[in-house]
Amino acid sequence: METVSVALIGLGTIGTGVAKILLEHSDVLVSAAGRQVVLAKICDKDITTNRGITLPSEIMTTDIDSVANDKSISVVIELIGGLEPARTFVLKMLRAGKNVITANKALIAQHGQELFDTARGCGRTIAFEAAVCGGIPILGTLMTSLQANRVKSIHAIVNGTCNFILSQMEENGTNYNDAVKEAQRLGYAEANPAMDVDGTDSVQKLTILSQLAFGMTVDWKSIPRTGIEAVDAIDFRYARELGYKIKLLAVADASSNDIELHVSPTLVRKTDPLSRVSDAFNAVRVIGDCVGPVFFHGLGAGRMPTASAIVGDLIDTVLGRTAITAGALQLWNENKREAKRKDPNEFYGKSYLRMLVDDQPGVVHNISGVLGKHKISIASMIQHETTEPKQNGKPPVFLIIATHKSREGDMLEAINEMENISSVHGKVVRMRVLD
Ligand code: HSE
Repeated sequence: METVSVALIGLGTIGTGVAKILLEHSDVLVSAAGRQVVLAKICDKDITTNRGITLPSEIMTTDIDSVANDKSISVVIELIGGLEPARTFVLKMLRAGKNVITANKALIAQHGQELFDTARGCGRTIAFEAAVCGGIPILGTLMTSLQANRVKSIHAIVNGTCNFILSQMEENGTNYNDAVKEAQRLGYAEANPAMDVDGTDSVQKLTILSQLAFGMTVDWKSIPRTGIEAVDAIDFRYARELGYKIKLLAVADASSNDIELHVSPTLVRKTDPLSRVSDAFNAVRVIGDCVGPVFFHGLGAGRMPTASAIVGDLIDTVLGRTAITAGALQLWNENKREAKRKDPNEFYGKSYLRMLVDDQPGVVHNISGVLGKHKISIASMIQHETTEPKQNGKPPVFLIIATHKSREGDMLEAINEMENISSVHGKVVRMRVLD
C-alpha cells in the first residue's frame, strides 16, 4: 500500500490532538485516504515536555530544515500559531514542494495573498478548515456544496472563548475575569486572550469567511469591531427583559449591493437559534439565494474538535481534493474581481444603549432630544429604581434604550453627544440588536 509521510510543526494543545489521531486512528485514515498516512516528523522548539502522549523519539526534532529537506515528506501541518515564524516556515515548506495544512487564522487573514500566491507558484496547496470554527466544516461547505448560491448573509458566533464567557456570565452569574480564566484553563482561549475578547480573532475569521463566500479580500483591521470587555452582568438582565440574549456576532450582510462587515456584541432574540448557542460552541448561519438559511453548530475550539478538522484537511490533501477546489476558487488572488464593501457610516440597524444617568427631571428629555436630532427613534426604554452609590450627590440610575433602525453614522454622533450631557455619567455602552 502506498505511504504518505506527514510532518507536524508545533506540538501544543492542537498538535498533540493531531498526533493522537494520526497514531490512534490509522485504520480510519487508511480507509478514508486509501493509503497509509505516517507521522514522519514532529518539530517543536520544546521536545522534552511530557504532553501525556507517547511519541516515538526518533521522529522528534527541533530542526525545521530537517523537515523542509526531507524529500519523503509531502504534507506539513503548521500548528505553531501567530504570524512569525509561522509565515516563514509555511513559505519554506511550500517552496520545498510540500502541501501545507494550517489552523492559523491570523496567518491566513494577514498574509493570505502572499501564501496563496506562493502556493500557486509552487504548484502546492494550503488547507485551512480548522482556522475558522474548529470542528465545524463551514469552510469546506462554502467552497463546495454551497457554490451554486449567491451568499446573502452570514451571521456567526466564531469565538468559543467569548461565547463561553458570555454564557457563564448569563447562565451562572460568573464574573468576567473568572470566566476568562476558566476559558484559558479549558484550552479555548488564544495564547493572548485579549485577541479573543477584543474581537480580533473574530474579525480575522470573518475575513476568511468573506473570502470564501464573496471572493472578497478584506484587510481584517478595516472591519469595525467591538469586543465583549464592556458587557456587564446588568446587560443580561435588561436584554432578558427585552426578550434577547447577548452574543458576540460576526456579520457579513450582502442583502444590499454593498457588503456590510462587522463584529460586535449583539442582542439576539431568544427565539433565534443563534441565541441558544452556549458555552464554547460556535455557530454559523449562512443564507444563500438558492438554499435559503443553513445553520452549522459545533465546537469551534479545543484540542480534538480542531484536530478533527485538520485531519479532515489532511485526507482531502492526500486525495488531491484540496488542489482541485483551491485551484478553481483562486483564493486570495489579487486579479479576482473585488466585491464592494459598505461604508461603515451607512450600516443600518437597531441598537441597545446603556447609560448611567442622574435620576432627575429633564434627563430623558435631553437624551431623547439628541436621538431625535439624529433621526433615531426609540423602540423601548427601561429604568429601574437603583441602590447604586450616589454620583455628584444625586442617585444615578441605569437608563436602557432600544432603538428602531438607524444609520450608523447618526448613532455614533448621537452617542458622542449623549456622553457630553452633564447628567450622563461615563461611556454610553452600545450593542447592536439583530433584527
Ligand atoms: N481562541 C479561539 C476561540 C479558538 O476561542 O474560538 C481558536 O480559533
